[in-house]
Amino acid sequence: MYKVIVRAFGGVEQLDIVDLPDPVPAAGEVVVGLTSIGMNNAELMARRGEYRLISGNPPFTPGLEGGGIILAVGSGVSDRIVGQRVILTLEAPASKGQGQGTYQSHYVVRAEQTILAPDGIPNQLLGALWLPYITAWGCLVWQQALQPGQTVLIPGASSSVAIAAAQVVKHQGGIAVGTTTSPDKLTKLQAMPEAPYDHLILTHDTDWYRSAKKLTGGKGFNVIFDPVAAGDFLNTEIRLLAQGGTLWIYGLLGKPDIVNVHPLIRKMASLRGWVLNQLSGSDVEQTAYQHVLQRIADGTYQMPIAAQFSLRDVRQAQTVMEQGRHVGKLILVP
Ligand SMILES: NC(=O)c1ccc[n+]([C@@H]2O[C@H](COP(=O)([O-])OP(=O)(O)OC[C@H]3O[C@@H](n4cnc5c(N)ncnc54)[C@H](OP(=O)(O)O)[C@@H]3O)[C@@H](O)[C@H]2O)c1
Repeated sequence: MYKVIVRAFGGVEQLDIVDLPDPVPAAGEVVVGLTSIGMNNAELMARRGEYRLISGNPPFTPGLEGGGIILAVGSGVSDRIVGQRVILTLEAPASKGQGQGTYQSHYVVRAEQTILAPDGIPNQLLGALWLPYITAWGCLVWQQALQPGQTVLIPGASSSVAIAAAQVVKHQGGIAVGTTTSPDKLTKLQAMPEAPYDHLILTHDTDWYRSAKKLTGGKGFNVIFDPVAAGDFLNTEIRLLAQGGTLWIYGLLGKPDIVNVHPLIRKMASLRGWVLNQLSGSDVEQTAYQHVLQRIADGTYQMPIAAQFSLRDVRQAQTVMEQGRHVGKLILVP
C-alpha cells in the first residue's frame, strides 16, 4: 500500500508518497482498497496549516472522503465480505484520530463505518459524493427545513458543495441562485445540466447586489449558503437577506474582515455557522445517508467530475485545485 504524507506545513512540495506493507485487518475491521478519494479545499487548508484542529501537526495524511472495494475482512465481521463496494462514512477518518485521512491506497476501518454502495455508482465516484451532499442536505433540509418556493443564494456556484446544494434546493422545491467569480465558469455552469441553478450571477466587477435582489422581486433571499464569508462579499450578502432570512456560513474561503451587522436587526435575520460533523451520531444520520444514496442511485443527484488524478500525482492535483478553475469535483484514484 501507499499513502500521502504532509511533511511540514507549506506548499505542494511538502506532499510525499510513502510505500508500506499491505495492512491486515484486526477484529471488527475491514481493509478497503480505495478506488476513489474526493478532494476538498479543507485538505489544502490543512497542508498550509490553516486547519490544525482537524489535521494536527505534520507529519499527517490528509483526506476526508473515500470509497472502494473490500479487500480483507477481520475476525468477527459477519455483514461484510471481500469484493463488496463500499463508501466510508464521514466518521471513518474522524474516528481514526487527527491526521489519519483518506489519501491512501488501502484504508483500514471498522466494518460499521462503511456503507454498501448501490449498483449504478461507478467505482471512481464512490469516495466523491458524500461530503458535498451531506453538507448541503444537513444544512438546508435538516437544520433550515427549506420550504418549497423559498429563495436560496449559493455563492461559489462552481464548487462541488454548491452544485450539490443547488440539486438539494431544487429537490425541495426551492429557487436556487448561484454566484460565481469567473465568466468562464459562468458559461460552463449555464451549459451543465447537473448544476440546476434557476439563475446565475457574476460577482466579479459587477454590481451584483442589484441583479441578485431583482431576482427575488426585491424581497431578498430566504436563505444564503456561503463558503466565502469575506468582508465586502459578506456585507452584500447581509444586505441581500429577506425579512427573517438566514445566512449560513460553512467555509472561510475569503479573507475575514469587519462586517456591518446592522441590517440583521431591522430584518430580524440570522447569521449561523454550519459544520457537517453535527450530523454524525445524530438521529437523522441514517435518514441523511439513505436520502443521498437513493437520489444518487436514481440519478436525481449527479456530481460533475472536473478532473481525475492518480493519487501518486497528488502534488499536481492539489495545484489544480488551488488554481480554482475547476467546475465540480476533483478526484484522486489510487
Ligand atoms: N462546514 C462544513 O461542514 C464544510 C463541508 C464541506 C466543505 N466546507 C468548506 O467549503 C469550502 C468550499 O470547499 P470546496 O471543496 O467545495 O471548494 P472548491 O471546490 O475549491 O470551490 C471553491 C469555490 O469557491 C469560490 N471562491 C473561492 N474563493 C472565493 C472568494 N474569495 N470570493 C468568492 N468566491 C470564492 C470559487 O468559485 P467561483 O469561482 O464559482 O465563485 C471557488 O472555485 C471550503 O472552505 C471547505 O472547507 C465546509
